[in-house]
Amino acid sequence: MKRIIIFFFTSLITLILMAGITLAEEGKVCIGCHRVVTPLMVKDWQSSEHSDNEVTCDVCHGSEHKSKKTSHLARMPDENICAECHEEQFNQFTKGKHNLGWTSLNALPITHMEPDELMEGGKGCGGCHNMGVKSEAQKKELREKGYTYRTNSCDECHTRHTFSKKEAQDPKACRTCHMGFDHPQWEMYESSKHGVRYQLKEIGRLPKDAAAPTCQFCHLPNGTHTNKVAWGFLAVRLPLPKDKQWAKDQTAILKALGVLDPEGKPTARLDVVKAADMVRLTEEDWQAERKKMIKTCKKCHSEKYATGELEKGDQMIRKTDRLMAEAINIVADLYKDGILKKPTHYTYAYPDFLHFYQTGGSYIEQVLFKMYMKHRMRTYQGVFHANPDYAYWYGWAAMTKSLDEVKKIAKDLRFKKRR
Ligand code: HEC
Ligand code: HEC
Ligand code: HEC
Ligand code: HEC
Ligand code: HEC
Ligand code: HEC
Ligand code: HEC
Ligand code: HEC
Repeated sequence: MKRIIIFFFTSLITLILMAGITLAEEGKVCIGCHRVVTPLMVKDWQSSEHSDNEVTCDVCHGSEHKSKKTSHLARMPDENICAECHEEQFNQFTKGKHNLGWTSLNALPITHMEPDELMEGGKGCGGCHNMGVKSEAQKKELREKGYTYRTNSCDECHTRHTFSKKEAQDPKACRTCHMGFDHPQWEMYESSKHGVRYQLKEIGRLPKDAAAPTCQFCHLPNGTHTNKVAWGFLAVRLPLPKDKQWAKDQTAILKALGVLDPEGKPTARLDVVKAADMVRLTEEDWQAERKKMIKTCKKCHSEKYATGELEKGDQMIRKTDRLMAEAINIVADLYKDGILKKPTHYTYAYPDFLHFYQTGGSYIEQVLFKMYMKHRMRTYQGVFHANPDYAYWYGWAAMTKSLDEVKKIAKDLRFKKRR
């Protein structure tokens, strides 16, 4: 009996050792050749924690390809491969909004009218919206179109092949996507007191214990991978606000987003927007996110201060909605009065923001879209990110200017029609 047990254990140990050797050997083959084929990529990997822990090329890419002619057999690893060793981060990620990047992109009508290179090819919208664990059917569709890369969300903040935690902790890791036209969070943060303090701390002008929140500190607190805020990008919510005027103004915006029809009845697009979690659907949902945020601010500010600052953001959304609704109604009336023709691809003779600049070719629709997508966004995002210049000059001031422009063009159009 004793001999059997000893035999069993020695065999087991031999087996484990053999597995270890083959694993390491497989890796050596890849690395040996790739030192020549892609030398700096191998160096990059060698500086990673993965290299220290024998997570070799084959672990992620499989070992079917081992020669120059078989590179098409190398597997491009999706998030499920990472999940085999990082289940916790994977599970957190799938509960957050980043996991819906691909879904919300595909929910928009415009996406399917633009060049594929900018979508599936990742050179435009798809460059920032590729995140999200994809179904087998979605992956098959992408492969058939010839798009075999960008299959992994995890290398967006800790890029391959260093896969570094430190990189992901730096606000610059968010910068590629959270910048520019409709969501300049990087620019706002960088020049806010929060961001300036962070940068001064980095170069040693402020002591290393100085308080300076990063994007991650506020949005991925305590190392979580679940990101979600109260208002979100569109800054509309359900149920509608109790304030009657505000509810009316948000209804005008919901119509222009096409989730309500011009009569105010829900459309099929509402379900799509709900599925992509683009709006918080209950008061509790909204409050839960707000409370989490205040808890974060409270690590440095008083609760009263933080609550008050965020309420200013809510009030600014209310005030931008007043201007926005006025502009939307002016354009909607032009359709109603037969002064503007319904663009062929619009469902209704009503402004449709989710077609972006693809309108009926009319300038007034473009001014209106920019007012919503660029200036309204900047106003409230600037307030939430403590950036006075974005909130005022690039935001509110630009909105009031756009409203004037909409009024003027509408007047001219009506005048022309009369002649
Ligand atoms: C004898 C040399 C050689 C060996 C061994 C080798 N590769 Fe390659 N590998 C190549 C060449 C050549 C390419 C194509 C490079 C190009 O397109 O410029 C390539 C491409 C790749 C690609 C990219 C495929 C694509 O579609 O872009 C991956 C991933 C890869 N190898 C991983 C591995 C792994 C993992 C191993 C070990 C199991 C391995 N390689 C072993 C030579 C080799
Ligand atoms: C921890 C997992 C992991 C390991 C280990 C790993 N890779 Fe990758 N590799 C990835 C991911 C993720 C991608 C991007 C996949 C995509 O875009 O769909 C990738 C992409 C690639 C590509 C194609 C894209 C490009 O930038 O050219 C090559 C080539 C490649 N890896 C080679 C290697 C080699 C060689 C090694 C070993 C030195 C290695 N990989 C180790 C995860 C890994
Ligand atoms: C076979 C297991 C395995 C796989 C598969 C794997 N990792 Fe890792 N990873 C590790 C180990 C081991 C470490 C070392 C730290 C630890 O123990 O968590 C690590 C560390 C990391 C770190 C932290 C690095 C640091 O600087 O502290 C990141 C980020 C990471 N992996 C991302 C990924 C991503 C993204 C993928 C998929 C493309 C992946 N890993 C696939 C095993 C794995
Ligand atoms: C530079 C990167 C980038 C590009 C390019 C980009 N987006 Fe986005 N998009 C983002 C980010 C970041 C957010 C989240 C912004 C926020 O919440 O303030 C977002 C938000 C969205 C949302 C709202 C999601 C939600 O849940 O509320 C939709 C829909 C969307 N984008 C569609 C598009 C379409 C369509 C295009 C191309 C015409 C596009 N995006 C181009 C980065 C980008
Ligand atoms: C939006 C950016 C972002 C994305 C996308 C992302 N991560 Fe991370 N990741 C981070 C940040 C930030 C940290 C550092 C957390 C901390 O401070 O403890 C981190 C840390 C990690 C670590 C190290 C954990 C530790 O405590 O050592 C692993 C492992 C990891 N991520 C895996 C993943 C995997 C797997 C995915 C894809 C499912 C992923 N990450 C996607 C931002 C990201
Ligand atoms: C001091 C905390 C803090 C920092 C630092 C911070 N944010 Fe925010 N962020 C907020 C608050 C507060 C909101 C609004 C939350 C709400 O809707 O109630 C917000 C909202 C957002 C939104 C949703 C749309 C919007 O702008 O309102 C995105 C996306 C975002 N932040 C990204 C970032 C990025 C990227 C960085 C770094 C470049 C960053 N944030 C830095 C607190 C912060
Ligand atoms: C590859 C591009 C990319 C990177 C890098 C990126 N994000 Fe995002 N982020 C997005 C997109 C796209 C969305 C909108 C997702 C959707 O459609 O629901 C988004 C949404 C968000 C939101 C809004 C959540 C909500 O409730 O509306 C926050 C907050 C956020 N990101 C924070 C971060 C932080 C912090 C980092 C850096 C650690 C980061 N992101 C890095 C693309 C990115
Ligand atoms: C890690 C600490 C930290 C966190 C977390 C933090 N802040 Fe700050 N905040 C500071 C510091 C330090 C200043 C600079 C104070 C000054 O200007 O004297 C500052 C400045 C500000 C300012 C600019 C005030 C001014 O006088 O210019 C506002 C507004 C603000 N914070 C709001 C918030 C809100 C809202 C949150 C939560 C969403 C938050 N902060 C989270 C540390 C923090």
